[in-house]
Amino acid sequence: MNQASDGPGDGEPTAGYTALLGHHLPTELDRLRALEETFDPTTNRVLTELGVGPGWRCLELGAGGGSVARWLRQRCGPGAVVVTDLDTRLLEDLGDGVEVLRHDLTRDDFPEAGFDLVHARAVLMHLPDPRRQLERITRWVAPGGWLVVEDPVLHLAESSPHPEYHRMVAVLREFLTRGIGSDFVWARALPRHFAELGLVDLRLTPMVAVVGTGGSPDRMWRLLLEQIGEPLTREGVATAADVRGWRDLFDDPSFVDLNLTMVSMAGRRPPRP
Ligand SMILES: C[S@@+](CC[C@H](N)C(=O)[O-])C[C@H]1O[C@@H](n2cnc3c(N)ncnc32)[C@H](O)[C@@H]1O
Repeated sequence: MNQASDGPGDGEPTAGYTALLGHHLPTELDRLRALEETFDPTTNRVLTELGVGPGWRCLELGAGGGSVARWLRQRCGPGAVVVTDLDTRLLEDLGDGVEVLRHDLTRDDFPEAGFDLVHARAVLMHLPDPRRQLERITRWVAPGGWLVVEDPVLHLAESSPHPEYHRMVAVLREFLTRGIGSDFVWARALPRHFAELGLVDLRLTPMVAVVGTGGSPDRMWRLLLEQIGEPLTREGVATAADVRGWRDLFDDPSFVDLNLTMVSMAGRRPPRP
């Protein structure tokens, strides 16, 4: 049985993320599945290359729909994986031997040096002062253990040959930055942050997503448009015709383009001398 429990210092979740992309939205699980389908192959490869397996104590932060948690459970066995999220309702089917905690990464702590692997994907970018959060979660890694942080850099649409696609990405990015505080460029500096925090054996793996081929990145953007289309038009940031036009873009057989770069950054806490 999963153990669902309240995180230490449990209280009101941070508002921005929950308001716009919360797990209560009927399409949120589908959006998270599209994100998983897009990025799991890279994440799983990175973790495999680190040697993640039996005997590792793992912490999966902001687990969302839980695909990485499920993979870690399979790799490391029962009792090895702690999984957190602000809202754990999509993490109820992770199987035996996984500890699921409702936990606000910005406020709730874990013991120093408690894990051989700490992983967070598409989480820190949504939090206030992600660099400070990075510093906190680094402390939860045991000497010799690995920190893996993955966040997107959303820059490729700026040079797109498709002006409407460029505009869609710019409007959505600005809206999420204002509404949640999400930072779509901070991951560009992950290598420097990891080095400054004293992490060693640094490994940087970029993964560029492509839109317009009918794959999971298209689903991710369509579902995002569905979720925030109404607030976008209500707040006058875009018209209903804009939102319809952006959705249609994904049906246009002549449209294919670069989307975002997921930056996967791994580093080790130096082993004890
Ligand atoms: C974009 S989703 C990514 C989910 C998952 N990590 C993945 O890549 O498949 C971001 C997740 O972070 C969680 N989250 C947002 N703010 C959080 C916080 N302060 N503490 C813990 N989790 C948080 C959200 O609830 C959501 O599940």
